[in-house]
Amino acid sequence: MSEYLLKYFPYEDLIIYEVGAGNGTLATNILDFIRERHPDVYERTRYRIIEISKALSDNQQRALRHHSSVVEVINKSIFDWTQREWAPCFFLALEVIVSFYLPISCPLSNQMAGQLPARRCTIPRAKPGAVPNHSGRRRVGRIP
Ligand SMILES: C[S@@+](CC[C@H](N)C(=O)[O-])C[C@H]1O[C@@H](n2cnc3c(N)ncnc32)[C@H](O)[C@@H]1O
Repeated sequence: MSEYLLKYFPYEDLIIYEVGAGNGTLATNILDFIRERHPDVYERTRYRIIEISKALSDNQQRALRHHSSVVEVINKSIFDWTQREWAPCFFLALEVIVSFYLPISCPLSNQMAGQLPARRCTIPRAKPGAVPNHSGRRRVGRIP
């Protein structure tokens, strides 16, 4: 959001692509946040979901019905996506590359991960019985 506000607002719309949105929870949270905190940006937001599963696409449409004016759910695989986006945009794919299990997809997705400025975020697991000391920080690193 800061990056969009600093670099693009008000000259460009806020365009977000999310690949594989599951139940649509992340999209709902992001759009609720923008509508509440940045109503002027919300008016200029376009959130596009590319989802391979028909059942999940239907769930996402339902979950995001309150944001229907800014959301578009496209039921297709990212590997069949041919449309180029010329405008600046943000691209989200959480726990999606790991789900590309077809032999032909694996090398491709690994290559993609190497090319993109992608970030991996992990939260260290607490040892059984350990008392939380609030020092456990998220570790962020480049995808190998
Ligand atoms: C493990 S779920 C992650 C869901 C959500 N992003 C999250 O973090 O909770 C993987 C999602 O990616 C979708 N998906 C898998 N392969 C895909 C592809 N080739 N194109 C688009 N979506 C895909 C699945 O249908 C599912 O919605």
